Amino acid sequence: MVKMKNLTLGYKKEKILKKIDFKVSKGEFIGIIGPSGAGKSTLMFSLVGGIKVFDGEFEVLGHDMRDIKKKNLRKVREEIGFIFQGYNIVNRLNVVDNIVSGMISDVPVARAIIKYYKEKELKEVEKLLELVNMGKHALKRCDELSGGQRQRVAIARALASQPEIILADEPISALDQKSAKKVMDILKKVNEELNVTIISNLHHIDVAKNYCTRIIGINSGHIVFDGKSDELTDEIIDKIYEGEKREESDEEE
Ligand SMILES: Nc1ncnc2c1ncn2[C@@H]1O[C@H](COP(=O)(O)OP(=O)(O)OP(=O)(O)O)[C@@H](O)[C@H]1O
Ligand SMILES: [Mg+2]
Repeated sequence: MVKMKNLTLGYKKEKILKKIDFKVSKGEFIGIIGPSGAGKSTLMFSLVGGIKVFDGEFEVLGHDMRDIKKKNLRKVREEIGFIFQGYNIVNRLNVVDNIVSGMISDVPVARAIIKYYKEKELKEVEKLLELVNMGKHALKRCDELSGGQRQRVAIARALASQPEIILADEPISALDQKSAKKVMDILKKVNEELNVTIISNLHHIDVAKNYCTRIIGINSGHIVFDGKSDELTDEIIDKIYEGEKREESDEEE
């Protein structure tokens, strides 16, 4: 899915991630942890071509990202669903319209506006609504939903284009513990049942340990840990968060 070798990434003249070696295989559920400003979101944005490559090798879904053509970048982006901390949905549209608008290439904007959807599309929406357990809110406008419900719509929307990878940048940071659990449970289901690769920045170490099959620890632009969740000892956690007081996951049970 992803291959980074000795890769240095950043913005204009500033190098943020340095000499990164990172490979992702299909079906992994990767949690990225580290202090604020470490480069976690930068790493994630780089996968959709938003970040400058200074040096090294970089492939996403078989495409060389160093000099990727626009057409191929579009292909890569179609295969990657993105869930942000601020929910990437349109609040004034209802749940169904939001999900359908995620089927980028299949549903032209004009049809979405007049709500002319095909049978096949509505079947798919029904499946997604069930997956994220939002069936009974299908016709509610998204500004009438709770934060956790909106995040679940965002997941359904991201899945609507049947992506290979889902990137989730702090998907639960704005949610209470119960809603956060629901969102993480759904991501887990998406990973295990649909075999979608998931890469997620997570603030809560316990959540990362519970849900992810592999954890990447980043400190000041360097990967300082790459291993299984149960290999993440307190000593390693201290190393990952060196230089910053780490956020205690006091919302955890
Ligand atoms: N658009 C940008 N232009 C220039 N520098 C940027 C830009 N976005 C982020 N940076 C810098 O890159 C570094 C890494 O930022 P990044 O957002 O990747 O951190 P992060 O680990 O996701 O932090 P947080 O946990 O706070 O979200 C920071 O020093 C930041 O100031
Ligand atoms: Mg970030």
